[in-house]
Amino acid sequence: MDKRAIWAKRLAIATAIGMFIVLLMGARVTATGSGTGCGNDWPLCNGRFLPADTYHSIVEYSHRLVTGLESFLVLGTTIVAWPLRRKHRSFTLLVPAMAGTLVLQSLMGAAAVMWPTSPEIMATHFGISLICLASAALIAIILLESQATRERRARHYVPDAFRALLIATFVLSIGVAYSGAYVRHTGAELACSSWPTCNGKLVPSYEGLPGIQTMHRTGAGLIGVVILALALWAFSLRKTRPDIAWLGGIALVIVLGQIAAGGIVVYSGLQLLAQLLHAGLMAALFVTLSDGVRRVWVNHAERAAEPSTVSVPSSIAAD
Ligand code: HEM
Repeated sequence: MDKRAIWAKRLAIATAIGMFIVLLMGARVTATGSGTGCGNDWPLCNGRFLPADTYHSIVEYSHRLVTGLESFLVLGTTIVAWPLRRKHRSFTLLVPAMAGTLVLQSLMGAAAVMWPTSPEIMATHFGISLICLASAALIAIILLESQATRERRARHYVPDAFRALLIATFVLSIGVAYSGAYVRHTGAELACSSWPTCNGKLVPSYEGLPGIQTMHRTGAGLIGVVILALALWAFSLRKTRPDIAWLGGIALVIVLGQIAAGGIVVYSGLQLLAQLLHAGLMAALFVTLSDGVRRVWVNHAERAAEPSTVSVPSSIAAD
């Protein structure tokens, strides 16, 4: 591995970890109602460079500060990883996605502070930070991947139906994440005060704030069932594609934890730690499913290029 690839790997790992922290800090800003902790000012905080000595001001300001530091990491990864796109073709998409979503996310965050913003836009803000995190994480994962793994992937294709189910699950996860962020930004968090029933009703209505919460729970149940099926199927492919079998198992553990964390959020009356766990698991699930899609996507592209591949030249085996 040349020096550039080693530095790109280190920077991408640091960027992915940093982005995860930014995402949790953003969730803390919303969960603690600190969005106006710096008033309507940006980039200043209540007209000053440093925050006032109040909890909300410090929570909001520290989020901005860490996002600022994260921008340097994203910039560094972009500069170092971009020239590697000839070897890793997916960088042509991932590097601009990482840099572009960070800029977009910062602008949306600033706009949210300065002007009243709708719950739909705030929910989209959360989704965009997931894309930024996943792009950085995938760059790191690709650079960490061994040649042996790439060659195995190029020799053993997953069934088309499995590929379609994995991609559909990934799309569904975006919908469930959006519905969760929508729950939060419309203030529907405790509209159903019990779980798994909604205010004691086994078949709740889909209207009003309880309806928003119920939509989210329905999506959560659906994705739980789909990921269970996906994990069982992935397990059956373990001999030829152990990477996919592992991803299926990891996704299943995360989604079960996520569903349990959702229940804990409700029963704890919105405890901050439970909310951060719920948001953090979402991030982990999204990265896992994105990586799964990448593995079957690249695999599919390789098959289209080389229908009868038996021995795999390394130029084809690279992403
Ligand atoms: C696969 C399952 C689930 C996924 C992917 C998921 C995802 C999410 C996401 C992304 C958020 C927004 C977090 C943020 O804005 O920081 C959220 C919020 C929320 N979710 Fe879920 N969720 C799942 C299951 C559940 C379940 C089963 C419940 C049921 C009780 C639940 C209850 C809530 C509540 C009350 C909120 C708002 C409070 C908060 O943000 O923590 N979730 N969910």
